[in-house]
Amino acid sequence: MSKNATTHHRNRRVLVGVTGGIAAYKSPELVRRLIDRGCEVRVVMTRGAGAFITPLTLQAVSGHPVHEHLLDADAESGMGHIELARWAELVVVAPATANFIARIAHGQADDLLTTLVLATTAEVAVAPAMNRQMWLHPATQANLDILRSRDIRIIGPGSGDQACGETGPGRMTEPEEIASLLAGDPADMAYAGRRILVTAGPTWEALDPVRGITNHSSGKMGYALAAAAADQGAEVILVSGPVHLQAPAGVRRIDVRSADEMLAAVLENLAGTDVFVAVAAVSDFRPARPAEHKIKKSPGEDTMTLELVRNPDILATVAALDSPPFTVGFAAETRDTLANARDKLAGKGVDVIAANDVGGADSAFDSDSNTVTLVHAGGEISIPTADKYAVAVDMLREIDRLLTGG
Ligand code: C5P
Repeated sequence: MSKNATTHHRNRRVLVGVTGGIAAYKSPELVRRLIDRGCEVRVVMTRGAGAFITPLTLQAVSGHPVHEHLLDADAESGMGHIELARWAELVVVAPATANFIARIAHGQADDLLTTLVLATTAEVAVAPAMNRQMWLHPATQANLDILRSRDIRIIGPGSGDQACGETGPGRMTEPEEIASLLAGDPADMAYAGRRILVTAGPTWEALDPVRGITNHSSGKMGYALAAAAADQGAEVILVSGPVHLQAPAGVRRIDVRSADEMLAAVLENLAGTDVFVAVAAVSDFRPARPAEHKIKKSPGEDTMTLELVRNPDILATVAALDSPPFTVGFAAETRDTLANARDKLAGKGVDVIAANDVGGADSAFDSDSNTVTLVHAGGEISIPTADKYAVAVDMLREIDRLLTGG
C-alpha cells in the first residue's frame, strides 16, 4: 500500500512498543483492542519491559513473534529493523517511560525501539506512564515539548491512584481509549451494522477436468473493497473466484470457481445484505458440455469447435429480485466508457456502475491503482486515480452518501 493511501484511511499496520513500566501489563489489552478494529499488530519490547511482561504473552495476543533486540541475526533475517520501520503505518509506544521519552527526545538509537522511532516515517504516538513526580519534572516536560514539536502525539496520561501509592498525573490512558483515539471507534464507523457482499476475481469455466476458460482478473479491486468495507465496520462476505490473494482481516471469504457456483453462493448469502458490489470478471459463456475426462486430440484433427452457452448475469439477477440490496456493478471498457456505463446501468437495472477505463497504462487489469467514475441515475462522480484501497474507500464514501440520500 502506498504511503499516500494512509491519508485516506486509518492506520492498519500498527507497531506497538512496550517499555519498562508497571502499566506494561495493560499492553496485551491494547494489542487486542487494535486487532478488534482490524489492525495488524507487531510488538517491540525494550529490555526493561521484560521485567514486567513476557514476550510470549504479547506474541500470543498479536499472533506474531515479538521483536526485542536490535542486532539479533535471526530477527534481522526475518523482518529486520529497517523493514519493520517501513512496514509500520503507525508506531504507538504504550507505556512510554520517562527514560524512553528522554531517549527519543534526544534522538538516541541505542536499542531496537528507539532505532525504529528514528528510522520510521510513520505517525508516532506515545502513551506516557510514570510516577507523578517524574511526570511533573521539568526535564520530562521539556522532553515532551520536543516530541510535540516533532508531531509525536502524546496520549494522556490520566490522573488517579498510582502503583507507587501516590495520587496524581502519570497513569497510562486505558487501552480501549488509546485504540479508539488511534484506530476509531467501531460504533462510529460509516458501515457499522451494515452487511456487504462482494464478488471478486475471475471465474473458471471447465472444459474438462484440467482445462478451462478464464481471464486474468487479479481480484485486487474486489479484495480492496472488501478490506475497506470491513475497516469501516461492515460485515463483509467475499465470494471469490480463483485468485492469489489472502482474505482481508475480518472478511468471510467463500471460494467458488464457475459463474454458476458464484451465483449460487451469492443468492445463498444475500439475505440481510445492504450493499451488493459485483466486481468479479464473470465469463459470459461456458462450455455447453464439459468433458468428464481429459479431451484427447485425434490424428488429423486440425480444428476443434467448442459449443458455449450463456452464463447467468449475477449482477442483473440480484438487481431484479423483489427487494434487492443497493447494487453496484463495474464496467471495464477500453472506449466510450461513460456511454457504455450508462447503458449498463439501465440494462442491468442497478443503482451504480463504476466505470473504469482499462485502456490506460495506469488502470490496467492487474494494476495496483485504478481510475473510476461512478455513474448513477442522478449523475456522475469521479474518483481520483489512486491505489485500489484508496479508490475503494472513496467509492464506499460515495455509496454511503447515495444510500442515505446525503
Ligand atoms: O456485462 P458486463 O460483463 O460488462 O458487466 C460487468 C458487471 O456485471 C460487473 O459488475 C460484473 O461483476 C457483473 N457481471 C455479473 N455476472 C455476469 C457478467 C457480469 O455479475 N455474468
